[in-house]
Amino acid sequence: MALRKIITQENDILRKISKPVTRFDETLWDLLDDMKETLIKSTGVGLAAPQVAVLKRVFILMVNESYIEVINPKITKTSGVQTGPEGCLSIPGKQCNVTRPNKVTVDFYDRYGNPMSLTAVDFMARAICHENDHLDGVLYVDHVKGKN
Ligand code: CO
Repeated sequence: MALRKIITQENDILRKISKPVTRFDETLWDLLDDMKETLIKSTGVGLAAPQVAVLKRVFILMVNESYIEVINPKITKTSGVQTGPEGCLSIPGKQCNVTRPNKVTVDFYDRYGNPMSLTAVDFMARAICHENDHLDGVLYVDHVKGKN
């Protein structure tokens, strides 16, 4: 495993659309392992591949001291609304209130290519939406009007 450099807002890579993973191989596993190590060394709870300059549809989330690896996610259902503070490792030192769905269901694949599904609420739902946005070149500040 190795630490990867987290790129920040000024880098155009963060604005690009990531490509679906097609091979669930060692290149992907190395990326996931490196992202996990990088996230552990940071102050964040989630990290998307574009943040380490890899345009693949991959993110990881810290959940109760454990990590969930999310590959080729599709948010299939959302409901409710929540508004709360959000930050991003690519926008250091900032936080803003963002409105998100309160509940989301996401279909995705694990590192071996097995299909998975997860329904999450509250903070976890927010985190999934935030990380999923990264895969489409969207940053949380895009949801904040007039104050970034
Ligand atoms: Co972020």
